[in-house]
Amino acid sequence: MATAPNPIGEPVNRIDGPLKVTGEARYAAEFTPPNLTHGYVVTSAVARGRIIGFDLAAARSFPGVIEVFTHENRPNTAWLDLKYKDQTAPPGHPFRPLHDEHILYSGQPIALVVADSFEAARDAAALVRAQIEPSGHATDIHHAKERAYKPPVGRAGFAGAPSPRGNADKAFAAAPIQVEAEYSVAIEHHNPMEPHATTVQWNADGSLDIHDKIQGVTNSQGYVAGVFGLSKDKVRVATPFVGGAFGSGLRPQYQLFLAVMASLALERSVRVVLTRDQMWTHVYRPHTLQTVKLGAREDGTLTAIKHDAIAGTSTFEDHQEVVVNWSGMLYHCDNVSLSHKLARLDTYTPSDMRAPGGALGVFALESAMDELAHAANVDPIELRLRNYSLEDENENKRFSSKALRACYERGAAAIDWSRREPQPRRSRDGRELAGMGMATGVWEARSNVATVRIVLDTDGKLKVSTASADIGTGTYTILAQIAGETLGLPVDDITVKLGDSDFPFAPIEGGSMTAATVGNAVRLAGEAMQDDLFKHAAKIKDGPFTKLSKDDVVFADGRIEVKADRGTGLSYGEILKARGLDRLEAKKTSTPPMLKKLKYVGYTHSAIFAEVRVDEELGQVRVIRLVIAAAAGRILNAQTARSQIMGAAVMAVGKTLEEETMTDNRIGRFMNHNLAEYHVPVNADIGDIEVLFVEEDDALSPIDVKGIGEVGIVGTGAAIANAVFNATGKRVRDLPITIDKLL
Ligand code: MOS
Repeated sequence: MATAPNPIGEPVNRIDGPLKVTGEARYAAEFTPPNLTHGYVVTSAVARGRIIGFDLAAARSFPGVIEVFTHENRPNTAWLDLKYKDQTAPPGHPFRPLHDEHILYSGQPIALVVADSFEAARDAAALVRAQIEPSGHATDIHHAKERAYKPPVGRAGFAGAPSPRGNADKAFAAAPIQVEAEYSVAIEHHNPMEPHATTVQWNADGSLDIHDKIQGVTNSQGYVAGVFGLSKDKVRVATPFVGGAFGSGLRPQYQLFLAVMASLALERSVRVVLTRDQMWTHVYRPHTLQTVKLGAREDGTLTAIKHDAIAGTSTFEDHQEVVVNWSGMLYHCDNVSLSHKLARLDTYTPSDMRAPGGALGVFALESAMDELAHAANVDPIELRLRNYSLEDENENKRFSSKALRACYERGAAAIDWSRREPQPRRSRDGRELAGMGMATGVWEARSNVATVRIVLDTDGKLKVSTASADIGTGTYTILAQIAGETLGLPVDDITVKLGDSDFPFAPIEGGSMTAATVGNAVRLAGEAMQDDLFKHAAKIKDGPFTKLSKDDVVFADGRIEVKADRGTGLSYGEILKARGLDRLEAKKTSTPPMLKKLKYVGYTHSAIFAEVRVDEELGQVRVIRLVIAAAAGRILNAQTARSQIMGAAVMAVGKTLEEETMTDNRIGRFMNHNLAEYHVPVNADIGDIEVLFVEEDDALSPIDVKGIGEVGIVGTGAAIANAVFNATGKRVRDLPITIDKLL
């Protein structure tokens, strides 16, 4: 048994916090190799068409300009699609920047100006003239949905909609209570604080040191090696810090391609940073239309669920999300039919955005459940309890753990649900209408494959390293806590190094999988080191352990001590020195529990409660209070875990009330491509957020850990929309719930 001053669960401050607040933590665009050049991207204002030609004379002769790259003079790159596929690429043909004359979407990069300063590159970029012949484009999902198709194959790890069970149509037709409604969620663009950026350091031996805005350095490394035909040992990607990503950094983006291309061609170091408005040329949540039908008995128990979704994708990739599957696993129901289709649009491929699919589908399902509660005159919590499911009926497998009942109870108590008026428009607070709503949240609790190395030195200090990222979630800190608990070391004696492709392999930090995956690898490595340490300790001549087995000792305070005689023991440093070692190393890989997965499915669950005020004269909604009670296995760090849920709740407020990318379909372009016209929540928009955790043991995770990066946004939109209905009697099914929809 090990003990440490900062054990698991404690609200340990981020160990990388001081680096971040002092500016020591460097991000992709903050590395400055010698003789750095700067690339500025020129994009297409046409949504579909063909480049006839360029006039580059003015740009090329601009002082400081080194080269202007277009498809006409770019260096050769790989031919096979496979070489452009990254770790999370959907099926289809990955976009190839500057590939040929074809324009596939508005905002497509068509040229890169490289100059000796950012300002020169930017000024010269404004002088690039492209002659583009437009052809017809389609960017409106409402028109394209007639041609929507079922994606041929799911993305790796993303199953398509499950097969139907029972007969949903028949059961719906026979149901005494029927709810049928259409929902839509607008396009949302990713806007983390750190924009997409890449700095490539070109080395004389032909190798590259790359700093890229990415959620996994191994993804960028593999992409660059594949596309440019380089061996991986010539491509090092180091991204120790990520300024927020939320899915925007899962896939390598075009600035990486452009920076590497220019660097190889010019044999110079190159940095390419996207401007804030260029953030609207990629990474966004797809426009999604949904229909939900719920059939129920008089008491609200479900007899039929039909959930159909159509989402936008590009013309070249099938970006499929898990939108409808939740409707087949969240509640018990014998007749279920689910479908998910894609509509091809002349846009860039959508991307994952915090709880991709879940944030959309559960909004619709949980809004419909509220409509059902109202129609059946059953309390919304009671309705969910009456339909509670003990297994995932899509897969006929038990949940590895599901303390959702306790979440409903704890959340309801925290917000004092008994204050809620069951009928809408019955509650006022001064001149505002008051309302309360709730919903269920859910997200996958999965794990992946990752390797961790730990090294102990003679000072008793431990170094943990893996290529995995910390995208702001607190990975540095929880890994130190897990290593500390396993080996009985204080967090202060542990250094964690992340985000470097030279470190042991880890995939992208995504899907809320990192804590369960990398955390388990740290634990395994720690246990291996315990064994090793004890073997060495037992061999020390005349030492305290010669006649003992590992069960007779404890690993605590950086020492091995005799259990029966605490105080008798040796420090790790003493053990290493006595054995003539200058370090001890352990390297372990965590893999998903394949056998257990035959029996169990893993999900994180939550109950979300929202309290709103609505000013009917102004149409303004204020979310004054959110309570999110989450059953997320064992909480590794009370502080960083709470921050994950809070951050996701803030994103949910944005998605539900503010964020909306508007398209001018006549020209096929996103119009509000700046943070003045695209609204994200500010502090004044956020009321009180309370986060509660119901701890669980889990049958799938060896360390009882379930991811919490995404669950906080799932269902939260529905809880807010349901509260708005409770306040106003108006059911808004199109997100965001902007003022115009309430007036
Ligand atoms: Mo998350 S959308 O898997 O970064």
